[in-house]
Amino acid sequence: MTYTPADTRFGGPELRRAGRSGLRLPAVSFGLWQKFGDASPYDTQREILLAAFDLGITHFDIANRYGPPHRASEKNFGRLLREDLGAWRDELIVSTKAGNSIGRSPYLSGGSRKSLLSSLDHSLRDLGLEYVDIFYSHSPDPETPLEETVGALADAVGSGKALYVAISNYPVERAREAARLLREASTPLLVHQPRYSIFDRRIEREGILEQSAEDGVGLITYSPLAQGLLTDKYLQGTVPAGARAEKSDFLSPNDISADYLERAGALNGLAKGRGQSLAQLALQWVLRRPEVTSALLGASSVGQLKHNLAALTAAPFSDDELAEIDRYGIHGTGLRVK
Ligand SMILES: NC(=O)c1ccc[n+]([C@@H]2O[C@H](COP(=O)([O-])OP(=O)(O)OC[C@H]3O[C@@H](n4cnc5c(N)ncnc54)[C@H](OP(=O)(O)O)[C@@H]3O)[C@@H](O)[C@H]2O)c1
Repeated sequence: MTYTPADTRFGGPELRRAGRSGLRLPAVSFGLWQKFGDASPYDTQREILLAAFDLGITHFDIANRYGPPHRASEKNFGRLLREDLGAWRDELIVSTKAGNSIGRSPYLSGGSRKSLLSSLDHSLRDLGLEYVDIFYSHSPDPETPLEETVGALADAVGSGKALYVAISNYPVERAREAARLLREASTPLLVHQPRYSIFDRRIEREGILEQSAEDGVGLITYSPLAQGLLTDKYLQGTVPAGARAEKSDFLSPNDISADYLERAGALNGLAKGRGQSLAQLALQWVLRRPEVTSALLGASSVGQLKHNLAALTAAPFSDDELAEIDRYGIHGTGLRVK
């Protein structure tokens, strides 16, 4: 059926400015990391992504690596653009990334100019786009001079293949240096994309929140639900059929430990007392920080997505509630911490 977006989409998530840029992004962005490759039905992907756009989520985050197999999520999103969303390209922020390994060739990984720029060309072909809105260095590459990596990012903008540049998973000093080099190149760093949730507090500990604010760089923080650990789905100590922990390289039944169950159970009790779910509490908690431009969420159904977005209208946390969350929000719970 021909797709027509909902008129109500402009009443969606609050828009937040990305650092000191002119770009405003929805407080919740949507990521295609898992279940948007070829192992998941295309019709389900389409339903979720179109619902997200209807709900006011204008920003879709992809990477050359997302699938399985690698590149499949970009191809599937390219199909969605071709068949449904392409007419609304002006209303969309499409991000992609390069630099994490996607194959055995030395040019299919790392932060070299060759790896980043040839990947960007490939992504544009798969997406069927002339430009992406945000192009990322997916991870720091200690073996490539930072000048080369950020120079390639700046050239992506210079050639018109990207509108803005970004970094992901950088340690604080390398993020600061990337911001400086890009400022000097007159292609300011738009955003940094680290992981952040009640169970992963690295960016609080390592000063990334402060550094981003000082450098005028936005933060798009990923996995706000700790891949589903901060929802009610694992609270019984079992893995429901179809859940990510069932078959994923990044989450396994071993992550559902006794410590996890105790802490997530306590957080769930606190959420219930506030009249919300654990997922809603976890998403709202990430967004409480003014440095966070957008929380980058995943969902495997429209129901999950709609449920989670209710977090945006919840009452703010009291100081006592935040202190209670700190008691159980222990860095590393259930996660392989980088
Ligand atoms: N830059 C990087 O290195 C990097 C790394 C990782 C992710 N990311 C980005 O961040 C995005 C989000 O990551 P993420 O998917 O880990 O985020 P997340 O929001 O923490 O986890 C999403 C998953 O949690 C489960 N879930 C969501 N809502 C639920 C609910 N209401 N009840 C029960 N379960 C629920 C679903 O998994 P089930 O399949 O179990 O239903 C869903 O796919 C990715 O798509 C990607 O764009 C970036």
